[in-house]
Amino acid sequence: MNGDAEDMPEFIDICKVSDIPVGEARMILVNEVAFGVFNVSGVFYAIDDACPHAGASLSHGIVEGDVVRCRIHHWRFCVRSGTYLDERKPSCNVRSYPIRVVGEQVQIELDNKSLLNFHPKQDLKPT
Ligand code: FES
Repeated sequence: MNGDAEDMPEFIDICKVSDIPVGEARMILVNEVAFGVFNVSGVFYAIDDACPHAGASLSHGIVEGDVVRCRIHHWRFCVRSGTYLDERKPSCNVRSYPIRVVGEQVQIELDNKSLLNFHPKQDLKPT
């Protein structure tokens, strides 16, 4: 393996526990990348915020237990795993991310590569 320390995943503070009431979700930006963070019965989950159908925000969808339904065309996703639920179609799954709670702080585990995969231009230096 050719490990690069910068690619090692790390937990990043994203919000306080009290910022997301049970049964609700919020869009959280990390380095301009949007994640949907959900509080399901006191347990937090994070998935890509952009719906793979047409890009709507999943955190602004309708949350029903551990399922979010996109507001635009009603595709459904499991917030625990990111699995697209309306058909067996893995290409429509969204990514899910480890979350942990430390005291009052909610943290997401990310590495640089996962952030850069969303926005390849992000590492360009401003001119
Ligand atoms: S944009 Fe989400 S289902 Fe169409």
